[in-house]
Amino acid sequence: MSFEKGFLFGKRSFKEKQDDLVKEHVKGDFATLNPKNADPDYVWDNWVTPLTEYAAPITSFENYLTEKIRASKEKIRVLDIGIGGGSQWKDFVKENDFEFWGTALSETFEPSLKGKVKICRASELHSFFKENYFDVIVSSFGMHDEELVGIENAVYLLKPGREAFFKMETALRSFEARDHYDLLAEEALFENGKQFGVAIRIKKH
Ligand SMILES: C[S@@+](CC[C@H](N)C(=O)[O-])C[C@H]1O[C@@H](n2cnc3c(N)ncnc32)[C@H](O)[C@@H]1O
Repeated sequence: MSFEKGFLFGKRSFKEKQDDLVKEHVKGDFATLNPKNADPDYVWDNWVTPLTEYAAPITSFENYLTEKIRASKEKIRVLDIGIGGGSQWKDFVKENDFEFWGTALSETFEPSLKGKVKICRASELHSFFKENYFDVIVSSFGMHDEELVGIENAVYLLKPGREAFFKMETALRSFEARDHYDLLAEEALFENGKQFGVAIRIKKH
């Protein structure tokens, strides 16, 4: 099947839904992450979250991935949408036998990941990778202003029965897409008592 924008979240309401997400995002404590308000070098390229925190508070992503790699007879394929600085992956990629892919918006990232990172937006993933290719997809604040279409792209690329984790700066919690995936977990993210985002875990049907 070819990728069709809106296949999860609807076509007519797509733009309005994303606009709502953007409004929530700009209102939140992390408003400085909006590229219009911030120093892009700092925000986009130097951000490095440890892999243990990548899917927090749902699970330790590092442990999850280590277990998946250990349990699989074949090399698993992993995609990180929006790697930021990328150094969080340096040792893990060196020490574990799996196929790593990441995306970034510029070439400024951890040099040892060269050749494993595509320069593309979350909305364009379907043009860079094949349908049903990945065993695990993760994005830790790496789909700004494209959360809905980013999830649609990720689901398109995920193998059936496999899982993805997303952390996003939005207070909205409307990520159920019952025909296509199960929402396994959904946690609000707080800082200083205010919600600034949400973490979700999904499993593709
Ligand atoms: C805040 S950093 C997060 C980096 C890393 N995932 C982490 O948690 O430490 C955002 C990253 O996602 C990328 N990014 C942001 N919005 C994006 C979008 N709509 N499509 C693709 N990449 C995006 C940026 O270029 C940057 O690499």
